[in-house]
Amino acid sequence: MPVVCHRSRISDDRFVVHKVKDFSITTNFDCGDLDLNEFFQTDAANYRSELLAETYTLYLKGYRKLGPLAFVALANDVIKLSKPQKRKFIHHQKRYLKEYPGVKIARLGVDKQYQRFGVGTQFLNLLKAFFTTDNRTGCRFMTVDAYNDEKAPIFYEKNEFDFLHDKDASDRTRIMFYDLKRFVAT
Ligand SMILES: CC(C)(COP(=O)(O)OP(=O)(O)OC[C@H]1O[C@@H](n2cnc3c(N)ncnc32)[C@H](O)[C@@H]1OP(=O)(O)O)[C@@H](O)C(=O)NCCC(=O)NCCS
Repeated sequence: MPVVCHRSRISDDRFVVHKVKDFSITTNFDCGDLDLNEFFQTDAANYRSELLAETYTLYLKGYRKLGPLAFVALANDVIKLSKPQKRKFIHHQKRYLKEYPGVKIARLGVDKQYQRFGVGTQFLNLLKAFFTTDNRTGCRFMTVDAYNDEKAPIFYEKNEFDFLHDKDASDRTRIMFYDLKRFVAT
């Protein structure tokens, strides 16, 4: 079944992503990272009311009783590209722009019991489709400050994200980005 995209919801034949309406569904969420659990359980609603981030959840279609498999918080972003990156990504005109618009994965967590089954990858694929369908504003890149640990950068690289630069190679997080135009072209 093709991807079906609405204003605050997107689905394919297996998964449904929709905006969280009632944050009580985050109560038992455990992705194995205390900061992320706490963000979704206690901070995400305030981020919404302050217009700082919107939280979405992923369900297995037809298995709502299983509960949410994953959560993501999203915010607007801009990135600066180096000259070689501009040459690589921005064809023809518009290389003079100082910054390029994007959507930032502010937080992402997959429930511990569903990790390593491709859930995070499917979530990202639906979000890539979401932000290349009927956008209200230009949105060229998907970005993330990935935990600089032994799994997050591998996960994002596997999902075709690149490191923005090497300046943050020893920091706690690293900026990574994905060119949504690649997704449109496939
Ligand atoms: C990182 C996270 C989102 C990945 O979600 P997931 O559903 O488990 O990921 P997928 O099953 O789609 O994995 C895709 C690929 O990413 C890589 N990957 C995922 N988890 C990994 C891990 N624990 N160690 C090493 N590589 C990993 C693998 O290459 C994997 O492919 P493979 O299983 O074929 O080898 C999830 O583990 C999570 O929520 N972790 C805790 C919170 C966190 O770290 N969030 C990211 C913050 S930036």
